[in-house]
Amino acid sequence: MSAVSQMQRLTVSKLRARKGGEPIACLTAYTAPIAHILDSFVDLILVGDSAAMVVHGHETTLPITLDLMIAHAQAVVRASTRALVALDLPFGSYESGPEQAFGAAARAMKEAGVGAVKLEGGRRMAPTIEFLTGRGVPVMAHIGLLPQAVQTAGGYRTAGRTREEWAPLIEDAKAVAEAGAFAVVLEGMAEPLAAEITKLISIPTIGIGASPSCDGQILVTEDLLGLTVSGHTPKFVRRYADLNKVITEAVAGYAGDVKARRFPAAEHTYALKQS
Ligand code: KIV
Repeated sequence: MSAVSQMQRLTVSKLRARKGGEPIACLTAYTAPIAHILDSFVDLILVGDSAAMVVHGHETTLPITLDLMIAHAQAVVRASTRALVALDLPFGSYESGPEQAFGAAARAMKEAGVGAVKLEGGRRMAPTIEFLTGRGVPVMAHIGLLPQAVQTAGGYRTAGRTREEWAPLIEDAKAVAEAGAFAVVLEGMAEPLAAEITKLISIPTIGIGASPSCDGQILVTEDLLGLTVSGHTPKFVRRYADLNKVITEAVAGYAGDVKARRFPAAEHTYALKQS
């Protein structure tokens, strides 16, 4: 990763300036081939801690380590040149205080070359966001449904389904914007609340299961590709492809050919060289 190509990427200030303007397209990637494809189309690639579930088969995002996240981010940065790449700080790498968060973010920026980090939490994370942004770390915040808090929340619950829940979520959004986040992910949030937050704050909102009026959208790429172990995709995801089916047919075709001795085909084998 040269310094020059890092400078050619979309910057956080350009993304921030898209508030209320051209919608921001974001997707997740954890590997080089997917990042390479996404790079021509999306503005931001998130190396999400969803890698724990999508790539490593865990039940939640909690088990993934910072070392693994950095390894995924290195692959994504190597295979992309245009999109801003953000690393999702994994559970346990930032919550105990701003200094811990800075240590994790600095590793992500130095070892993987990412241009930003994402962290979960609203008001409680505002001092950390301020600390990081004041020290050269661009931060994307994340409020609403927080997958890293699944144990305390008792499951994946949509946020803001009743008006009584709105005030603290609006306070969260304002707090992360005031603390200096360049954007905020609104995950699993009642549509009218996400639309209201989008109107109220000065930074772009990036929705996932939230509202079409958010300033941008993000999805887990494997969900829109139909490439999941469980076959389950969240209700708000539109499946643009069915890669489970495509890969199943390809692999079954290959295994069938091997068993019937049709593979490799004679024209693809290496004959002895004539001496
Ligand atoms: O880890 C993740 O993939 C996320 C999302 C916002 C998609 O945090």
